[in-house]
Amino acid sequence: MTAPSEIDRTPKSYADAPRLPEGERVDVRELVRGTTFEIEIGHGRGGFLIERAAAAPDAAILGLEIKRKWCAIVDARLEKRGLRNRVRSFSDDAKYALPRLGPDGIFSVIYLHFPDPWWKKRHQKRMVMSNDFLVQVARLLAENGELFIQTDVHDRAIAFEREVEASQLFRAYGDEEGSPHLAENPYGARSPREHRAVADGLPVARLRYRLKR
Ligand SMILES: C[S@@+](CC[C@H](N)C(=O)[O-])C[C@H]1O[C@@H](n2cnc3c(N)ncnc32)[C@H](O)[C@@H]1O
Repeated sequence: MTAPSEIDRTPKSYADAPRLPEGERVDVRELVRGTTFEIEIGHGRGGFLIERAAAAPDAAILGLEIKRKWCAIVDARLEKRGLRNRVRSFSDDAKYALPRLGPDGIFSVIYLHFPDPWWKKRHQKRMVMSNDFLVQVARLLAENGELFIQTDVHDRAIAFEREVEASQLFRAYGDEEGSPHLAENPYGARSPREHRAVADGLPVARLRYRLKR
């Protein structure tokens, strides 16, 4: 048995978490293989990537997660499940990573599950959602490609809806004509926070958009 003094208590830095290749342009097709391409931004614990891989067996799925710890754990989990040729997690800040990804029009779906949960003004600059983000999403989406956003923070849903509308790059593609709201998640996979919100009976706002052409 290991004596307590011998246990390594050094916090792990996860410095070996996978990063996107360097360079101005990163071709997504060289990272993951599939007949269609999807990306999840801020996957956290990564449950959605695994569930979506099962629901869409021909899709290649890229995950971007700023926290190295989750990226390292999730990418190792993907390797263990034999999924790493078509599903990968990279530890990169979406703000800097998205502008480097290509080719234009590669993704059929871009997922943003429960982002930006803070509401203090000083957290504003950390937010993933912004006009710059939406410009990149529009560049990377295929014709008829979808942007899917979920949140359990009511005011955030309103703010996201306003921001997407103000960009004039997307059209609402929800359950009813002219509205982005969906009652259910149509992708056959849930993020960890979505599972928790559903289990706790919290209302979840689901917004879906298509690219305006
Ligand atoms: C509230 S959590 C939601 C996690 C997961 N999407 C879910 O629904 O369970 C937001 C996640 O986004 C990640 N994140 C925040 N800013 C990011 C950025 N600029 N680039 C990539 N990931 C980011 C956080 O590290 C965190 O894992």
